[in-house]
Amino acid sequence: MSLKRRAAREGCGRAKNMTKENTDSFFKVNGGASLKGEVAVSGSKNASLPILAAAVLTDGEVVLHNVPSLRDIRTMKLVLEELGVKITGENSTLIVNSKDISKYETPFELMNKMRASIYVMGPLLARFGKARVALPGGCAIGSRPVDFHLLGLEKMGAKLSIEHGFIEAACDRLKGARIYLDFPSVGATANLMMAGLLADGVTTIENAAEEPHIQDLAWFLKSIGGRINGAGTKTVTIHGVAKLHGAVHTMIPDQIEAGTFMLAAAITRGSVSVTGVQLKDLRPIIVKLLEAGVQVKESKNEVKVTAKKKIKPLRIITLPHPGFPTDMQPQMLALMATADGVSIIKETVWENRFMHVPEFLRMGADVKLEGNSCVISGVSQLKGSKVIATDLRAGAALVIAGIGADNTTTVYDIEHIERGYENFETKLRGLGADITRSES
Ligand code: UD1
Repeated sequence: MSLKRRAAREGCGRAKNMTKENTDSFFKVNGGASLKGEVAVSGSKNASLPILAAAVLTDGEVVLHNVPSLRDIRTMKLVLEELGVKITGENSTLIVNSKDISKYETPFELMNKMRASIYVMGPLLARFGKARVALPGGCAIGSRPVDFHLLGLEKMGAKLSIEHGFIEAACDRLKGARIYLDFPSVGATANLMMAGLLADGVTTIENAAEEPHIQDLAWFLKSIGGRINGAGTKTVTIHGVAKLHGAVHTMIPDQIEAGTFMLAAAITRGSVSVTGVQLKDLRPIIVKLLEAGVQVKESKNEVKVTAKKKIKPLRIITLPHPGFPTDMQPQMLALMATADGVSIIKETVWENRFMHVPEFLRMGADVKLEGNSCVISGVSQLKGSKVIATDLRAGAALVIAGIGADNTTTVYDIEHIERGYENFETKLRGLGADITRSES
């Protein structure tokens, strides 16, 4: 089967690239339920993506547990299989073997589906000295350049050119370098950590991203024989080694999926225990919920969120970790839409991440956009409407807002949501939501 058809069959990609069957899926949400019960969080998408790509660094067998089953992971599997990587396994365990890599190119059809496809670049260059990857796509929440990735690789001795939408890169062996990132980019930090693993000498990444998935990637890289210090802080140091080996690794829980269910409990004024979480990764979300007057009970790997009718308004500013995560901004906006007063959310990570505001306006929210901030005057209840998932997290926010709204909310373009949430509607139904997935 052609790559284009396989990508379409997997349902990878943005709405405008989708086949007809995929573009016609939608969620129908009958509002009014107060969510109750317990929901288990899946493995982290944003850890699984770079860790799958990092398996390219070694010819040893890599066994990965707790990998979520969702579209972005299926896209990454296609990206790797195109290179000649063998992937087997079932449920949440994948066995990845990169012994027989025979291609160094990632085609446009896959790269265009998901920005994280750029993650194969560092590992390919580090192990084989060559890579040809199409410029990446992904959610349309900003211009999403990859200049930090490229500048870092150039500093490490790679010769780069951009021809006809492809990044062509080559080197003899990457050399350790001191790299300063203008912004603590998650993707650039991950790519350069992977590139540094097999480089000659020491690579230092300053102003590195500190996200939990960067720490998980470092744990994995150490397990295959990498020498890394400082992951999870502003400065990461990688001592290049000559060869790596196989390993077994379990992904950390998904911080944003956990946060989304916590917010779903608050938005529907319900009471939900989210299990299998890493509490330390949820600090900024917990702090903001407490400030809003929501009850949050923490126990070992579990957090219970209980909300009463009145929600206090908040001031929120999105920032790199350990600040408030931008990937929770739309869900927070959904909560603030019915708060008792005026809230302000300032977005500082992505320049175009308020595309969901017009969709919330359709639901009766009172939101005014002012540059990279929005001012939200709480209304007593949102109204069920027809809305469009403008990106992954916005889509999830509209669904949980729909559960708290009156009447019926129909969320279109749900392919975005399926990129990042495993069994989203099934998990929500388990908490009492009236949600169905339909194809027209
Ligand atoms: C990752 C997450 C995404 C999250 C984001 C910020 C994955 C698969 N995705 O995306 O969900 O919203 O982190 O937490 O992990 N930038 C540049 N040049 C670059 C790279 C980035 O200017 O070379 C800018 C971006 O345009 C953006 C900011 O830096 O404004 C953050 O981007 P980055 O941290 O790289 O995000 P991703 O890794 O793509």
